[in-house]
Amino acid sequence: MSKRSLIYAANWKMNHGPTAARDFLARFLQVTSPAADRQLWFFPPAVSIAAARDAAAGRDDVVVGAQNVHWEPKGAFTGELSIPLVMEAGARAVLIGHSERRHLFGETDEQVGRKLAAAIKSGLTPMVCVGETLAEREGGRTEQVVTRQVAALLDRIGPADWERVVLAYEPVWAIGTGKNATPDDAAQVHGLIRFELGRRGVTGRVPILYGGSVNQGNVLALLAREEVDGVLVGGASLEPDGWAELVGLGA
Ligand code: PGA
Repeated sequence: MSKRSLIYAANWKMNHGPTAARDFLARFLQVTSPAADRQLWFFPPAVSIAAARDAAAGRDDVVVGAQNVHWEPKGAFTGELSIPLVMEAGARAVLIGHSERRHLFGETDEQVGRKLAAAIKSGLTPMVCVGETLAEREGGRTEQVVTRQVAALLDRIGPADWERVVLAYEPVWAIGTGKNATPDDAAQVHGLIRFELGRRGVTGRVPILYGGSVNQGNVLALLAREEVDGVLVGGASLEPDGWAELVGLGA
C-alpha cells in the first residue's frame, strides 16, 4: 500500500530576511532529500519569497508561498500585496486567514472568503486556516465556530475548486503557546470539517493540516491519525537542522 502524501509547512512569520532565507534553504535542502510522498512548503516573509524560490530551484518537492495577500489584483492599497505581485516573486501558494491575521488584524470570514476566491481564480494554491479561540473552546463552541469559518469558504468557491485547496486546523489557543491539541482533538475537528465539506458537495479529499505548537516530540502522534494530512509549524520550523529532523521523523 502506498503511503499517504504529507505536507510539512513552515510558517516563518516575521523571521528570516532574504539572506537568512537563502542560508536556511541551502542548509535544509542539503540535509533533506526529496521524497515522493512528502511536500515541503515554506511561507517566508514577502521580502524573502524570491530568495527562497531561487534557493529551492530544482526541488519540485518544495513550494514557496506568501503569508498573506489582498484579494484585489491591483489598486491603491498602500502596504498590501496583490496575488500577481507575490506570484511574480515566486510564490505558488498563499496562507489565508491565519489566526494572527484574523485576531490581531481583524480579518473577517468575509475577507478570508474573498482571498480564497481570488487565489483560486489566479492559480495560487490557497492554504486556509481555521480554528477556535480558548474562550470558544471552553464555551463549547468549537464545532459552531469551525463550521462557520468553513461555511464562509464554501460560500465563495464551487465544489470542484476544492481540488486545489489545502486547509489547516489551528486552534488559536495552541499557537505559540506550547500547548498542542491532542491527536484526538485534532482528528475530531478534522472529521467535522470533512463532514461539512461532504455535506456541501465536495467529493475529493481536501488535505487538512494540523497546526499549533507542533514539535519533534508530538508530530508523530498527530500524523499517526489518518485524518491529519500534515502540519503547519511556526516556532519549530525556524532553524534548518531542527526542521530537517522534524520532517524526516515520519520517513
Ligand atoms: P507554532 O505556530 O508552531 O509556533 O505554534 C503555528 C502557526 O502559527 O502556524
